[in-house]
Amino acid sequence: MCGIVGYIGKEQKALETIISGLEALEYRGYDSAGIAYLNNNHIDIIKKKGRIDQLKKQLDFKIKSKLAIGHTRWATHGEANEINAHPHKCGQVTIVHNGIIENYIELKQKLENKGYQFKSQTDTEIACALIDYLYQKEKNILKAIQTASHKLHGSYALGIIVDNDNSLYAIRKASPLIVAVKDGEKFIASDVPAILKYTNEYYLLEDGDIVNLTEDNLTFYNNDLEKIEHEKMIFEGNIESGKKNGYDHFMLKEINEQPKVILDTINFYFDGSLESLKKNLPNLNKYQNIHIVACGSAYHTGLVAKTLIEEIAGLPVMCEIASEYRYKRVFYNDKTLVIVISQSGETADTLASLRKAKDDHIDTLAIVNVVGSSIAREADCTLYIKAGCEIAVATTKAYTAQLSILSLIAIKLACIHQQIDKKRFETIVKEIKNLPNMMTSLINNKQYHDIALKIYQREDIFYLGRKIDYAMSMEGSLKLKEISYINSVAYAAGELKHGTISLVEDKTPIIAIITDDEIKNKTISNIKETKARGAYVILVSNYEEHDQYCDDNIVIPKIDPFIQPMLTIIPLQLLAYEVAKLKGCDIDKPRNLAKSVTVE
Ligand code: F6R
Repeated sequence: MCGIVGYIGKEQKALETIISGLEALEYRGYDSAGIAYLNNNHIDIIKKKGRIDQLKKQLDFKIKSKLAIGHTRWATHGEANEINAHPHKCGQVTIVHNGIIENYIELKQKLENKGYQFKSQTDTEIACALIDYLYQKEKNILKAIQTASHKLHGSYALGIIVDNDNSLYAIRKASPLIVAVKDGEKFIASDVPAILKYTNEYYLLEDGDIVNLTEDNLTFYNNDLEKIEHEKMIFEGNIESGKKNGYDHFMLKEINEQPKVILDTINFYFDGSLESLKKNLPNLNKYQNIHIVACGSAYHTGLVAKTLIEEIAGLPVMCEIASEYRYKRVFYNDKTLVIVISQSGETADTLASLRKAKDDHIDTLAIVNVVGSSIAREADCTLYIKAGCEIAVATTKAYTAQLSILSLIAIKLACIHQQIDKKRFETIVKEIKNLPNMMTSLINNKQYHDIALKIYQREDIFYLGRKIDYAMSMEGSLKLKEISYINSVAYAAGELKHGTISLVEDKTPIIAIITDDEIKNKTISNIKETKARGAYVILVSNYEEHDQYCDDNIVIPKIDPFIQPMLTIIPLQLLAYEVAKLKGCDIDKPRNLAKSVTVE
């Protein structure tokens, strides 16, 4: 979603710093960009629809400026155009905003009555006018920001500059914002990649905190305007995570990083002994049922975990999409554990679901990638995946890293409930050691491009699978549709003939997944039903014999079901990637999508 960058510094490098920061945040998804900078005591604002390159063309980088705010906008209120793009200026106040002001219509009426006129359709312009109004009244910008924060409902991270005031201000509530300092220069940003060029040290703001950055000082205030200190955080990754390093796309780079990522993640929690699982994962003994809540791909990892935990450990699991969970009647008790999964740790619906469980005094566990994110900070217990910075909008390495932690949780639960014996445990340990090599071989498999050539011009592609393979189908289908724009749906294999098979015609691609022996023959029967109607069947399976019922066959190594999904996903990611590449799509920044979905 929207990206914010702010700069104040003696070096007077505001324009280039803002642009390079916004470029580093491009992965968040956006459809317009803009900048406001101090130019000889005047604030100039330049905004453009489309990519940052368009904005760059309008800028004179020779201008020396010591203060600026910049923004990439992912449209929510009003279409993507120059008027709606940020920054917005009202009176003496100029702001950039990430989030949603829920009560903006009511505020707009009040401000119109006070004489404000609005040019854009955005909620941000209203927030800007509100701060200006309060500033005119109170003559104190900190007080104005504080009062505005009580009147604004919803989520916001705001970067604020004021006419004739050589300062940068920021406030956040339920939207991410970091602050960083490097020698004489100071920054605010929506995420760490924006500042990595300068420093890997940063501060996190708590909800309601206000920060004032001047050339010489950095001052944090709580929402009562008392000065406070914040602990410095160190970003574990490095600037390389923001570079493609020779790969055509970040998505491909991140797919290739998966063997290392799962090794790093698993090794962090598990040294091959049951003791390490006992020590490094939370105590799960008391739980009799589990709710897993997440969105998108993270929800799909939850579905995999549901199957593993229910089938093997024998514990009931409800896996729910967060945007549903947060509003539905949920049945839990003191033996329920709510697990929320989120790469960004900022997904609005997942965060709201976490808060719902916490309000009901239910134990919560978060599986998160971004250190210090809202979900990570609010959950009772947080397990970090070790995926590093994920730039491509379509998640790959974070998905697999989530799977790896969920597999460990499932194994731990299976041990607690005595559902696996020592021999199986030892086999899993051996297979885990070999997992990165197996993943690398699958990544290097040469089949994907040739198969993609046969299907990339089709309008509809179906994915089929049963049980855990159905959960994998859902992720394969999501990967394909989000980056290639091909309409794709995943079906529980047995369900197809209850309606959807009417869509299968000559050469309709069906990607079928079979890794579960128990239901193998059932899925094969369903595949044959599609084949009899002319489907072009691509089978992803962990067994060798195939032929009559499929046209292409990708064979993956057969390993224990606890860890099999980490292999199954590789061909699905790479098929989607190759199809999107053949179609010439903008793979790392698919249209309409945002990396971090901070609005509901
Ligand atoms: C798909 C994708 C999304 C995210 C979803 C949740 O490739 O990336 O479906 O999985 O938006 O995001 P997080 O994990 O940040 O909560």
